[in-house]
This record gives sequence, structure tokens and C-alpha cells, in this order.
Amino acid sequence: MALFTPPVLVGAVLVAALVWLVARLRSADAAVPGPALNLVSSLPLKYHEFRGNRTQYIHQLHRTYGSVVRLAPGEVAFASLPALKEIYMSHGSGYDKTAFYHLFRQYGTPTMFSTLDKQTHSQRRRLLADRYANSHVLKQDALDGIRARAHNFTAAAARAPNQTLDTYIALHSYAFDGVTHHLFHPFGSNALQDARDEAVMREVSFDNSLARRLLEYYFPSGLPAKVADKLGLLPPARSIPRAKQIVLDAVDTTLNSAAEQQKEGGPRAAEFTLLARLQDPALGLTRMQMAAECMDHMAAGIETTGDVLCWLMWQLSLPSCRGIQDRLYAELRDNSDPAKYDGLPYLHAVLKEGLRMFPSIPMSLPRHVPAGGRVIDGTWLPEGTIVSCQPYTMHRFEEDIFPLPDTFSPDRWLGADPEKDAEMNRRFFAFSNGGRGCLGKHLAMAEMKLLLRDVYMQFETVLADTGDKPADMSMSDQIISARPKDQTCKLKFIPRIKKESV
Ligand code: HEM
Ligand SMILES: *[C@@H]1O[C@H](CO)[C@@H](O)[C@H](O)[C@H]1NC(C)=O
Ligand SMILES: *[C@@H]1O[C@H](CO)[C@@H](O)[C@H](O)[C@H]1NC(C)=O
Ligand SMILES: *[C@@H]1O[C@H](CO)[C@@H](O)[C@H](O)[C@H]1NC(C)=O
Repeated sequence: MALFTPPVLVGAVLVAALVWLVARLRSADAAVPGPALNLVSSLPLKYHEFRGNRTQYIHQLHRTYGSVVRLAPGEVAFASLPALKEIYMSHGSGYDKTAFYHLFRQYGTPTMFSTLDKQTHSQRRRLLADRYANSHVLKQDALDGIRARAHNFTAAAARAPNQTLDTYIALHSYAFDGVTHHLFHPFGSNALQDARDEAVMREVSFDNSLARRLLEYYFPSGLPAKVADKLGLLPPARSIPRAKQIVLDAVDTTLNSAAEQQKEGGPRAAEFTLLARLQDPALGLTRMQMAAECMDHMAAGIETTGDVLCWLMWQLSLPSCRGIQDRLYAELRDNSDPAKYDGLPYLHAVLKEGLRMFPSIPMSLPRHVPAGGRVIDGTWLPEGTIVSCQPYTMHRFEEDIFPLPDTFSPDRWLGADPEKDAEMNRRFFAFSNGGRGCLGKHLAMAEMKLLLRDVYMQFETVLADTGDKPADMSMSDQIISARPKDQTCKLKFIPRIKKESV
């Protein structure tokens, strides 16, 4: 069996390696700028992913190599407006999502968000979209619930020992209560006041399963995860039993009372809720499909809104932002009609700047180049290449559009030049864009504005004294969202009125 002698085997392996290397060097990736190692290996990218540092790594690559950069074999990132339009907005919803999004199935059931192809996706989206239209979000029953919760947040701040709140916890509770109101009212949560509901929020927010889920994605066979588990290298699997239960309870209660309605007319989801729409028999959804969709929107609404508000309020509490808080207070005081929270230019600019600097989904949103390949911002890439833009970089990379990108400056959104405003807005990517962009955008904006208005109308916030170790607020990447690393942010709420009268 001379065929299998060691020299022959080694020779065969070398030839195969050479053929592979030549193919790599002649691939479309090779024409894209980027580190040489990334042309032949995805390990550098994965290393940073597993460390929760993918966003910063990609941003650094853009700074070194420019607006198009090779991340790994078959994966390219862009940081330009033409690329954003092509990948996310061409033909309405841009390119199809990659299998990465299977990580977002709920109860093992596909959802709108985890659907890869645009036909299936847009069918589902059409059925749900009106629940999140701005006119719908502004309906009195819908908005009153959010208002009441913002009010309860400031009440909690006023009562807090030493006037100090861990805003990471309180804001995620607020976001949880706000989104569940919109999904399930009257079965929404009250995590701001009820420890059992707060425990549900913690279950979702303190999930630590990043490394395990990445392994599942890269090795669907499950073997590496099993080995790493045996070696004790992996954090526990994502486990959210309470969250799963409250969603199923809401679905079941309204389904049962719909069935028994002729007899009793038991409690059911309010007309304005997502659940009321999902259970419309005309949609033909199963119980698990309803629950999966609700769970997805619930998760989408907690982390995102909670993290942006937390980073923004932390930023505003830094000594350098004292003047910004004062200006915000002046605007709010001059518009003291409690019904008014929208159409306040400075509040809007502060929030927009918060979303620019701290987009809670800062990470690249992966899509596949369609059949036949495409030219993206001047670079040809073959079918199947994974391409993306990331909000973090879109909001900082072009310094002629965003001067001093690392400086928090609401004023940049208040310029007198409409053309410059338009250029910034075209690159604003915190909610993504196109047919797969954030469905909950108007709800999120209303929640955030109502809260900021209530807080800064009544209080000045400063960093609480936490001894000599301030919390680490740097970005810790999760699957596509990021959160403040230490998951705590203690702020002190100093009442404005009292302060002025002394
Ligand atoms: C500040 C808060 C929020 C931010 C920054 C945000 C951001 C985003 C982004 C970037 C996407 C696209 C992700 C991708 O393509 O991978 C998205 C999608 C989505 N968001 Fe939000 N989001 C926020 C709040 C909310 C809220 C409150 C809801 C409430 C239900 C929500 C529901 C959704 C849904 C359902 C999708 C999927 C849309 C689709 O697949 O067509 N989001 N969001
Ligand atoms: C994250 O990546 C950036 C850019 O590559 C690097 O400067 C930074 O040190 C990294 N941080 C961590 C915690 O690995
Ligand atoms: C309140 O503040 C004082 C002084 O800063 C501190 O000694 C005390 O531990 C704080 N109490 C609480 C409940 O945080
Ligand atoms: C707000 O607080 C009040 C008083 O504690 C409570 O009765 C009410 O249920 C809370 N509202 C919401 C919407 O959670």
C-alpha cells in the first residue's frame, strides 16, 4: 500500500494546501483591503467575537484600512452610505439575512426577525406593522401605560435610599414594563415595583451565554460545545424559564377567554396590543407562533431601550455634561404641559446623540450577497459573501459628517444647515434601515422621550459615589446588542425644585 506511505500523504496534504491557498489569493476577498491573516483564517475575528469585542475590532480595521475591509474568508464589512443603501435598502429590504439569525428563534419556532428570506419576512411584517406605526403608538390607551411607568420611575428615584438608583436595573425594568404593556396589556409587567417581575427582567438581561451560542452557530453539530462543556470552559446555556412562562401565560389567558367569550367575557389583551393582533383567527397563527413572536419583541424591547437610556443618563451625569442637563431642564421647564414630550428640539437632539454614540445594537448586521454577485460601493463580491455595516462605525467613521465623533454633542443635531442634517440622518443606523429595520422604533422613541422628560424635568443626575471603583461602562458585545460591561450604573437623583429654593 505505497499509496499511504507518510511521504505520499504529506505530499498530498501540501498540494491540497497549496491549491487552497492559490484559490484564496485569487478570490474576490483578496482584492479587499484587510490583514493578510484574515484572508486565510476567521480566527482573528472569532477571537474578538468570543471576547465580546467584535464591534471595536471591526471599527479599528476600518480606521486602519478604510471604508471596506475584509473580516474573514468570505466576510467583508463596509462603512459607507452607498454600501448601507445597497445592502439594507435595495429593492426595499436589501439582501437576505444569514443563518446567523437562526440564533434568534424562540421556543424553537421561527419569528419575523429570525426569518432569512425577504418574501416570508415581508408577509409576516405586513400583518404586524400597524401595531407599531407612530399613530398607533400614540393612541391614548397605549401611551398612558408608558406615561404611568415613566412616572413610577421618577417616584422610585425620589424614594430611593440616598436618592441613589442602580439605573441599569431600573431602566431595564422600565423598558420591560413598557414593552410588555404594548404587547400584552392588561397582562404587562410591573418590574419597577414587583420583585417577581424584576426577576424576569434579570433573567433576560443578565444572560451570559454569548460564547456558547457562538459555538452553536459555528458548529451546529454541537461537538465543540460538548467538549468545551466537559472542560468547564463554557458559561451556562441561555435559560429564561420565567420569561417563557409569562409570555405563554399571556397568550393562553387571552386565547382561553376568546374561546369562552360568549359565556363570560374573561380578561383578554387590550385592542391596541400586539397580542390582540396575533390572535386574530384570520392570521392562522399557532399558539407557539404567537408566543415566539411576542417573546422576540419582548427581548428586542428590553435590552435595546434599557441600554441606550442607561448609557445616555450616565453620559449626562458626567461633570462635563452639567451644562447640557441645564439646557435640557430649561427647555422642559418652558414646556411644562405634561402631554408634551415630542417636538422638543433639545430633548430630541440629546436622545439622537445618545443613539449615535451608544447604539445598543452597535454590531454588524450580516447579510448574504444575492445570486450572481453584486458590486457594493465599487467592490465586486460573489454570491454568498457575508456583508454588513455596523451602526457604531456608521455613526463615527466619516469625520467630515460627524466631526469629533467621540465627543457627546447634542448640538451637532441642531445645526442650521439642512443639507448637513440630511447627510447625518442618512447615516443614522441605530434602528437599521429599509424593510428589515426596527419595527419598534416609534415605541422606543416614545418610551425614551417620556422617561427623559420626566427625569430631567424633576432632577439633576450625577454619578453616585461608588468608592474608588467606578463601574466599567465600556461596550460588552453580545450576539448583536451590546451592554455596559459591569451591568450596573449608580446615579444620584437631586431634585431640581429643592435645589433652587435653598
Ligand atoms: C432604542 C431601542 C431600539 C433599538 C436601538 C433597536 C434597534 C433595532 C435594529 C438595529 C434592528 C435591526 C436588526 C437586524 O437587522 O439585525 C431592529 C429590529 C427590530 N426591532 Fe428594534 N430596536 C429598539 C427597540 C425596539 C422595541 C422597543 C421594539 C418593540 C417591540 C423593537 C422591535 C424590533 C423588531 C420586531 C425588529 C425586527 C424587525 C424585522 O425583522 O422586520 N425594537 N431593532
Ligand atoms: C478591543 O479591540 C480594540 C481594537 O482592536 C482594542 O484596542 C481593545 O484593546 C480590545 N479590547 C479588549 C477588551 O479586548
Ligand atoms: C448613603 O450615603 C452615605 C454617605 O455617602 C453612605 O455612607 C451610606 O452607606 C449610603 N447609604 C446607602 C443605603 O447607600
Ligand atoms: C405605578 O405605581 C402605583 C403606586 O405604587 C401602582 O399602583 C401602579 O400599578 C404603578 N403603575 C404601573 C403602570 O406599573
